[in-house]
Amino acid sequence: MLTAARTTDLERLKREAARRALDFVRPGMRLGLGTGSTAAHFIELLAERIRAGLDVVGVPTSEATKAQAERLGVPLTTLDEEPELDLTVDGTDEIDRELTLIKGGGGALLREKIVATAARDMIVIADESKAVERLGRYPLPVEIVNFGLAATTRAVAAAVRGAGCDGPIRLRHRPDGHVFVTDQGHLILDAGLGQIPDARSLAHRLAEVPGVVEHGLFIGLARRAILAGPGGVRVIERS
Ligand code: A5P
Repeated sequence: MLTAARTTDLERLKREAARRALDFVRPGMRLGLGTGSTAAHFIELLAERIRAGLDVVGVPTSEATKAQAERLGVPLTTLDEEPELDLTVDGTDEIDRELTLIKGGGGALLREKIVATAARDMIVIADESKAVERLGRYPLPVEIVNFGLAATTRAVAAAVRGAGCDGPIRLRHRPDGHVFVTDQGHLILDAGLGQIPDARSLAHRLAEVPGVVEHGLFIGLARRAILAGPGGVRVIERS
């Protein structure tokens, strides 16, 4: 369990990464607003700038982010009104050297991926603990429709094995024991794979399973990562 001091440290690092991301925000930008605790820091800091006169508009990637942005007075729009965004800023659950991500720990992967794909640029903000040599320690979220749950779970397991991975695949539940349901009304399978030798192969195989709506592998979307550690903030760019 995290001690109170370590939690405070982590929050400070997340906020440092979020603050650095503001350097890439320009007046007039249409922004994707990510989901999770790190993205929440970014939205708070962005709201401060907006109160000081910065003119931007945001598309939230979850109902939670929408509620936070509304509460803080961040002007919002939708992808229907603004189908092309300038930049999305979001957190991650894991990130490797190529800036491939595992996302969806908060269950917002589908909207996050739609928004990231609609954006010309994506900046990932995180504390250093999210950086890994090889993806997979964090369970990979796979968003599925509820029809055919058992059959889809088997097909996901087969896809996972086909990509050279193995591990338990569990239906996500909320802390109160109820099944977790996403903002889009779907379910999530968490695949505890330990390591993912070939993210592209796994992504393709999962995408071919009927019933899978989206998976949490974000490949080729993030152009820049801002990682905050005890030694300072690192900005990494994908070539
Ligand atoms: C939300 O579904 C996720 O993709 C989050 O972006 C990810 O879980 C990072 O969250 P934290 O910033 O809270 O670690």
